[in-house]
Amino acid sequence: MNVNESFRLPDWLMLVPDIETLNRAAAEEFARCASEAINKSGRFTVALSGGHTPRAVYSLLSKAYESSLPWERIYVFFGDERHVPPADPQSNYGMANESLLSQVPIPAQNVHRIPGELDPNTAATQYQTVLEHFFRLKSGELPRLDLVMLGMGEDGHTASLFPGTAALQEQTRLVMANHVEKLKTDRITFTLPVLNAAAEAMVIVAGANKAPVVRQIIHSPATVTYPVQMVHPTNGRLLWIIEQLAAGAA
Ligand code: 6PG
Repeated sequence: MNVNESFRLPDWLMLVPDIETLNRAAAEEFARCASEAINKSGRFTVALSGGHTPRAVYSLLSKAYESSLPWERIYVFFGDERHVPPADPQSNYGMANESLLSQVPIPAQNVHRIPGELDPNTAATQYQTVLEHFFRLKSGELPRLDLVMLGMGEDGHTASLFPGTAALQEQTRLVMANHVEKLKTDRITFTLPVLNAAAEAMVIVAGANKAPVVRQIIHSPATVTYPVQMVHPTNGRLLWIIEQLAAGAA
C-alpha cells in the first residue's frame, strides 16, 4: 500500500513512521486511558497483550510513567496466555512482568495473570471466575475493561483468537481454552464479547510481515474476515496504531 495514495485512512487508524513513534504513541494512549478512567471511576482496568511488539511499549511505560501514574489504582489482566508456566520465555505474563510490572509500584494483588501452568480448561474457568468476582458480574453480564491492548499476527489473529478456531465463535463464555492446530498448542484467551465490551481496544501492529493482511483490512475489508477485524467495541473506542512498514510503506 502506498500511504501517499489519496485516500482517507479510517478514523480508527493511526499511521506512524517508525517503531519508536509506535511505542511512544501506545504508551501515551495507555497513560491517557488510565488518567481518564481513574478521574472518572477511581480505577483503571487494562488487559495487556503478549507477543513481541508490546514489550518495548511496556518498557517505555515503566520508564516514562513509573512515578506519574497511580499504579495502586491500576488493575492488570491479560487478554490471553500460552499454556506455559509464568517463568517460561513464552509466557505473556512473564514478558509483561519483566518489562513493566516488576518495574513499577503496582501492588501484586492488582495483577491478575492467567494461570497458564494449569490445564487450559481449568485455567480458563478459574480466570472467568476472577473476572466475575472482580467486576461483580451478574449471570450473562460482560466485564467492561477500560482498555484492552491487542496485537495482530501475520494471519490476522488477535489475542489467541486464531482463524478457524473454536474460541472465535464463542458468544457466552468470557475466557476459553482454544486449541490452535497450526501451532500444535492450546492457548487461553478472552473471547470476542469481552474484547468488544471494552471502553477501548488498542491494536498495535509493527513489522513488514504484517503488511499483506493490513493492506487487505484497510483496502478491501469486505473481502476478508480476519479475527482482528472482529474487534470493534460495541460502546467504546477502537484505535489501531500501525507502523508504516506494517502498512506496506517504507
Ligand atoms: C500472543 C499475543 C498475540 C500477539 C500477536 C502479535 O499471545 O502472542 O497475544 O495475539 O499480539 O501474535 O505478536 P507480535 O507482536 O509478536 O507480532
